[in-house]
Amino acid sequence: MKTDFIRKPLKLPSDDSVREPLAYGGGPAVIPEDVRRTNFPIITKEDVIQMLVSIQQDGDQVVDEFKEAYRHYVGANYAIATASGTSSLHLALVGVGVQPGDEVIVPAFTFIATAQAVVAAKAIPIFVDIDPITYCLDPVQAEQAITKKTKAIMPVHVHGLPADMSALRRLTDKYSLRLVEDASHAHSASIHEQVAGSIGDGAGQSLMADKNFPVGGEGGIAFFKEKEDYERALHFLDSSGIDYRMSWIAAAFGLSQLDRLPYYDAIRARNAAYLTNALAETKLFSGPLVPDGYKHSYNMYRVKLSPERLGLADLEDYRVKDAVQQLINAEGVYAREWQNVPIPGHLPFKNRKGFGAGYPFTLSDRKDFGYDLVRFPVTLNMLRNSLTICRELRTPIEYERIQAYALAFKKIDANPHIIRELVERGDNLKVLYERDARLG
Ligand SMILES: Cc1ncc(COP(=O)(O)O)c(C=O)c1O
Repeated sequence: MKTDFIRKPLKLPSDDSVREPLAYGGGPAVIPEDVRRTNFPIITKEDVIQMLVSIQQDGDQVVDEFKEAYRHYVGANYAIATASGTSSLHLALVGVGVQPGDEVIVPAFTFIATAQAVVAAKAIPIFVDIDPITYCLDPVQAEQAITKKTKAIMPVHVHGLPADMSALRRLTDKYSLRLVEDASHAHSASIHEQVAGSIGDGAGQSLMADKNFPVGGEGGIAFFKEKEDYERALHFLDSSGIDYRMSWIAAAFGLSQLDRLPYYDAIRARNAAYLTNALAETKLFSGPLVPDGYKHSYNMYRVKLSPERLGLADLEDYRVKDAVQQLINAEGVYAREWQNVPIPGHLPFKNRKGFGAGYPFTLSDRKDFGYDLVRFPVTLNMLRNSLTICRELRTPIEYERIQAYALAFKKIDANPHIIRELVERGDNLKVLYERDARLG
């Protein structure tokens, strides 16, 4: 069983480790192998007790109690607890009135489920590039993608940083469209205190076990601002007979996790702030920028690389990234590529088979769906120049560990010649988005 008990604590980190030889070349790793494991989700006796209590109750009531508690936390008007994030997005889209053949604008950089939820609603995902600073949907390019078929815009609060919802709201007002949030990375994230999930006309959110707010196993929730949209979603469930219900075991787990969510959020925020400050002392690395009034929830933490600041501008950036990944992984920091190909380059959008016979893509009279990757230069550039820390910062790790992470980045930054050596020694590495698309 996983618990939050740290069986083997890290040694207190020391600045001396920055000057030691790199672990990749045989030196001591900043985080030794036997203390690298970070657990997520954190399961405590409160979760076990809550499940024992809930087991005695009516299942529907447990789901309802969970749904109401979380809806209240988010500040949304209406909610439907679902079996997954994908089903919650599908319901949110149907609820706001997306119809077969409509177009829905989504970012090219997200998890594939954002776009597949649009396909599940029998609509056509139209991909738009991202903002180079926030990595969220670019409102200027979103406006250029609007056609008379567009019904909704669905931004994603990528990694936990809310998208520019006021700019997008101006667009949806101007063109009479609906605004739906994919808040799957953004539990407790907010813009001027308004919590993600309650900002758009509708929202879907994953609550699966790897999200900041995990229910037991798989789960999700759809939110609505207007009663009419909520009722349309309910009617869709009734009339289609599709069972998207959340399991009560998941809901029971969610109830006790919800009590601890603000505490875990605070630790994540503390850790992310520590790392961002430490990276600002390096040349090569920088952490995410969070606009004023925005609260990032740090479901993932993307580290940007600036090789030119370390005298490595003559090297291919994605090779520098690859070398850095090898070096930092050897130090015990599991930074990796999260997404290697923009979503329009994933197989379901390359082949557009949809549900068979090309449906729903066959509903469109478009010759060009705009899925060619050259249309997404900001996403491509971001993928070439960044690495992501996922579960390791999502879990509320102890202060020593985040200090050790910071030291590991500083250690790599102090060794540009080794990065160069590794790149120059490298074989014919393909640029990441020319490789097969991975899910995450
Ligand atoms: C941005 C985003 N949207 C949607 C989903 C889909 O959620 P689920 O896996 O719960 O269906 C995910 C899951 O990782 C996600 O990251």
